[in-house]
Amino acid sequence: MIQKGLKGIVAAETLISHIDGEKGELIYRGYEIGKLTNRYSFEEVAYLLWHGYLPDEVQLRALKNELMSNRDLPENMKKLIDLLPSGMDLMSVMRTAISAEGGNFNYGWKPTVSQAIRITALAPTIIAYRKRQLESKEFVPPLNELDHVANYLYMLNGSVPLDAHVEVLETYMILTLEHGMNASTFSARVTASTESDLVSAVSSAIGTMKGPLHGGAPSGVIELLDEIAAVGDAEKVMRDKISKGERLMGFGHRVYKTHDPRAIALKAKLWELVGQDAWLDLAMDAEKTAVRVLEELKPGRSLYTNVEFYAAAIMKAINMEADLFTPTFTASRIVGWTAHILEQSENNTIYRPQSKYIGTLK
Ligand code: ACO
Repeated sequence: MIQKGLKGIVAAETLISHIDGEKGELIYRGYEIGKLTNRYSFEEVAYLLWHGYLPDEVQLRALKNELMSNRDLPENMKKLIDLLPSGMDLMSVMRTAISAEGGNFNYGWKPTVSQAIRITALAPTIIAYRKRQLESKEFVPPLNELDHVANYLYMLNGSVPLDAHVEVLETYMILTLEHGMNASTFSARVTASTESDLVSAVSSAIGTMKGPLHGGAPSGVIELLDEIAAVGDAEKVMRDKISKGERLMGFGHRVYKTHDPRAIALKAKLWELVGQDAWLDLAMDAEKTAVRVLEELKPGRSLYTNVEFYAAAIMKAINMEADLFTPTFTASRIVGWTAHILEQSENNTIYRPQSKYIGTLK
């Protein structure tokens, strides 16, 4: 029997995270996600995912220092980014720059936590360097007194960010650090399973993340909401799309058959940040309409908002432009990918499924 898209197939055992799609639960290393977002920082949760336990003060300080000391882009990476065509999308720039990082150190088998930390530290600087270059603005070097998330916003905007903006982005980044055997993580594990290096595995994952059915959805959400605002009739826009066989971006999930807990947490955070707001009202109305329309036109498919729906709203609330959505998601998911790459390397079997030949014999 063939399981198209490997639906429902268990491909590995993991200690990193657990998703209960029926109950709408997400657990990182034994901790329910809602217990992590309001108590711990990006760095603490990243440490948890890499090591399996939360850091004490000394371990946390050491991780922060290691992230800080790896934030600067190597000169060859800057030169490479400078040479890339200006029309190249940011995800492709990230994939290319991180791929080039493979030449800077000896990233051989087996992968290490230090390598994971280095790639995690570099990702926001790559995004900010390129984004400011495209806007003809001067590069803003990392500011070492700022933690990971605050420094990312600082490098993008050139000013120390508001605490509220850091808090909301940090919540989003913690919620998206890790998510089981999703397409990009699977891709990373497949590459790592050949005993290839960590940089190659992360590059594979970035290529997978880029697609609109995975990490590329948030910009589609903004387009959907903009279209609803322009037409002034959410139901009509949604019915038209579905009748043309299109998907409503930000809805549906392979695993969650109820509300995505990350979408619920983001919606609450967003409400805390912006309160009553025309754009948030539009998003919440669109959510209600979409769930009703999808229930009618796609009965039994259990389609609700996924993390991308409110992620798009979060990014808009902190004035992050749409081309930064998927790269920002990637900058956090690198932690989950590298945790999986490390886990794969501990007890490795190469991934090698089979295909069924349906051609003829000539
Ligand atoms: N809008 C309309 N119909 C949908 C949607 C949607 N967003 N999602 C699924 N469906 C329908 C499909 O058309 C299909 O209908 P059919 O049975 O009549 O053919 C049915 O629901 C099942 O769809 P599948 O694609 O088989 O479901 P799957 O679990 O494989 O897909 C996916 C999950 C890819 C996320 C899908 O729901 C989708 O395309 N959503 C829109 C894109 C999106 O928001 N992606 C972000 C996901 S979250 C993340 O990656 C971080």
